[in-house]
Amino acid sequence: MLAGRDGHASQKAMEILVALGRIYGAKRLVRVSSVQVSGVSYKNLGDAGLEFLDELAKDGRSRVKTTLNPAGMSLTDWRTQGIDSHFAEKQLEVVDAYRRLGVEISCTCTPYLAGNEPRFGEHIAWGESSAVAYANSVLGARTNREGGPSALAASLTGRTPLYGLHLPRNRVPTHTVDVEAQLRSSEDFSSMGYFVGKSVKDGIPRFRGIRKAGLEDLKTLSAALASSGGVAMFHIAGLTPESALGGKKTEELTFTPRDLAETEANLNDRGTPDFVSVGCPHCSLGELKTLARLLKGRKVRKEFWVCCSREVKRKGDAAGYSRLILGSGAKFATDTCMVVAPIEEMGYKVVATNSAKACHYMRNSGLRVRFMPLEKCVEEATRSR
Ligand code: F3S
Repeated sequence: MLAGRDGHASQKAMEILVALGRIYGAKRLVRVSSVQVSGVSYKNLGDAGLEFLDELAKDGRSRVKTTLNPAGMSLTDWRTQGIDSHFAEKQLEVVDAYRRLGVEISCTCTPYLAGNEPRFGEHIAWGESSAVAYANSVLGARTNREGGPSALAASLTGRTPLYGLHLPRNRVPTHTVDVEAQLRSSEDFSSMGYFVGKSVKDGIPRFRGIRKAGLEDLKTLSAALASSGGVAMFHIAGLTPESALGGKKTEELTFTPRDLAETEANLNDRGTPDFVSVGCPHCSLGELKTLARLLKGRKVRKEFWVCCSREVKRKGDAAGYSRLILGSGAKFATDTCMVVAPIEEMGYKVVATNSAKACHYMRNSGLRVRFMPLEKCVEEATRSR
């Protein structure tokens, strides 16, 4: 491949991987079973990113199952989302380039809920930071936190350099976090992740004192740890599959009730929300069920986006949840989310959401945020302005 015998795109891709491998001292490449490509929104890619993809798509082809992160808009309902037509045209060109590369146009940050669920011990190359943390920590698959180009290079070659979290010795905890606060909701897991991510940066925290954690708790914890810090893996004593790994002396931290209250308070700006969104990371079927129960027979009075994959929405359709959600006037934002869609350019100023990760990135886009539990998000969306 490096000599160009398989074409231009795989040569370029292999050059990227070899350079990365040299930087990180990898002894060899390893085959990957799946790839998740981030860097899909035209908001982040711009024209330079689009040209890079077009160039690769001339003769490049994915060699392994490859799924895509959310784009900057719904690929089918972008008009009702209020997306500008120039942006939409460019976004569709980006998606078309990925399609020509053989990438599945899944457009979700929860590929593990939409048909791309790696098994324990499998080597993968994923880019979406929340999915990376979830795959390593909850599923026990092995991936570094790939950038857009290196994930795509892994897709076009079926390989990645063997370093970092692909090696068991690098998966041991660096920090021990004693959880003293009561975690009563997924939002509390999100706050804890946001607090701990700031302290441990790209370390591997091992939480002690958590008796149970559901899919939604782990999904939002993964996202928050990876947004305020660079966490790509965590353990929960007695709950996650590699939590018995050890051997290194760890730094000790506590997460107290006061830390929980302060983190929540710090994620709240002033102002009345004019936009409400849930589903960061993309909603599970369980969350659609809860939303359907909360929204049944009610009307939303503000723009309210429920972000999820098309796959989960299809399951929600079959279970009857989507009908109740849509009946309230809420909108499904499949293929996209409140962070990668250009909502600040659509005139919204204050966003209510139940995700610390979403608060973090929306603030970076100049929006004000209000962090609240899912139930409160529904209250906020259904009450008069
Ligand atoms: Fe997913 Fe968007 Fe959040 S990509 S993790 S919903 S910022």
